[in-house]
Amino acid sequence: MNAFIPLLILQDYAVIISMAVGVLVVAVVIFLMTSSSIDEDKDSAKHKTYKMRGRYFFGLIIFLVICTFVSLRFLPYHRFQNKPEEEVTVVGMQWSWKMAPGVSDKSPGEFTGSNEISLPANKGIEFIVTSADVNHAFGIYNSKGVLLAQTQAMPGYHNKLQYEFAQKGDYHILCMEYCGLAHSFMMGTIHVN
Ligand code: CUA
Repeated sequence: MNAFIPLLILQDYAVIISMAVGVLVVAVVIFLMTSSSIDEDKDSAKHKTYKMRGRYFFGLIIFLVICTFVSLRFLPYHRFQNKPEEEVTVVGMQWSWKMAPGVSDKSPGEFTGSNEISLPANKGIEFIVTSADVNHAFGIYNSKGVLLAQTQAMPGYHNKLQYEFAQKGDYHILCMEYCGLAHSFMMGTIHVN
């Protein structure tokens, strides 16, 4: 559970950071408005602006690359070293989940499964996730409502999500992508024992 704490803190920081960036943008606009001189030659102003823009853009790319590498550490996804010990087929449809052990060779429409499944704790589990109609997103939450893992459920694609449940108990499946009127009723349960 502790592995997710940095994520929560990051989310709190995100609000502060976005507010700070907002203030910075306003400050830059005010600076530009007050420091611009009207009688400056148009072409030389244009040239100066393009040069400055190129420099800022280059700086921004470096900043974003650094942010990406630093923040990737906090992603709770890691591939298993060995083969997954259990495989589960998951099909999302308007508006329910179908889950069954094993890899299914049936089409998503013909596949039969339940919105409840029992899985073992401390075993590498691979969810093979697809959709029978529109885009959904398969999100696994613990009993406290903390998102543990998620992947898109897309028609025509089989997305693999690997997860190992460290604790026994009930986990909730929620759809994380708006998929129509009854989107919020698209729920399921994983009993881990
Ligand atoms: Cu399925 Cu939202």
